[in-house]
Amino acid sequence: MKKMEILNSGKAKTVYKTDDPDLLVMEFRNSLTAFDGAKKSSVPKKGYYNAIISKRIFGLLEENNIKTHYKYMFSDNEMVVDAIEIILVEVIVRNIAAGSIVKKYPFKQGQPLEPPVVVMDYKDDERHDPMLNEDIAAALGLATKEELAQIRKTALIINDILISFLEPRGLLIPDFKLEFGRRGNEIVLGDEISCDTCRFWDKQTKNSLDKDIFRFDKGDLASAYHEVARRIVPEVIK
Ligand code: TMP
Ligand code: ASP
Repeated sequence: MKKMEILNSGKAKTVYKTDDPDLLVMEFRNSLTAFDGAKKSSVPKKGYYNAIISKRIFGLLEENNIKTHYKYMFSDNEMVVDAIEIILVEVIVRNIAAGSIVKKYPFKQGQPLEPPVVVMDYKDDERHDPMLNEDIAAALGLATKEELAQIRKTALIINDILISFLEPRGLLIPDFKLEFGRRGNEIVLGDEISCDTCRFWDKQTKNSLDKDIFRFDKGDLASAYHEVARRIVPEVIK
């Protein structure tokens, strides 16, 4: 399989075409942004850590019968994925109140959310990812009500899998973001699941081990991402 020209370059990842029309190469870069691109930086090895964390989590989900776009690693920070038709919906699952939900609603930082809260946003930085409801999603032609119901159900199953996997590794997952796409007539998980797209807290100290370190200048991002990678993929960590 041969990597070809760039299909799309986002804030933290670049997607390349390949000589197989059904496959793409997704490169995890060291660049990162926050607040819809307003804050920018680059951290050595960030792309590598996010790639191996995503690979492990996609593998875990596949073992649990969740369909994902992941195929195999192409290099240390690149993975081969299925070419799926992206659904422009960011699905956020929250177990503990943190981040924007604390700003927007009268939740207290650290408050458990039981049952978990699922929010779907329209993926559009210029509009600051406005929240969707079923009618708006259908009217925009993003996804049908049936598809959204299936996505919500899958997101909650993924949440249970992640909580059980992370708990013995001393990690809490207050929230995370998923993106889905269409592959033929099925809906599969796309994008990444990494320290850029999840909140991870150390179970004991409740310290952030994720992109909040960059968003809120809370310390050394590379060592936090390394720590998550060490706990999730001890055997491959370089
Ligand atoms: P929030 O609290 O800022 O809304 O973020 C909720 C979760 O979604 C958090 O785990 C980080 C993740 N996230 C992304 O992956 N991409 C984004 O653009 C934003 C705003 C959040
Ligand atoms: N991914 C978004 C941005 O780049 C926001 C965030 O993760 O905080 O700007």
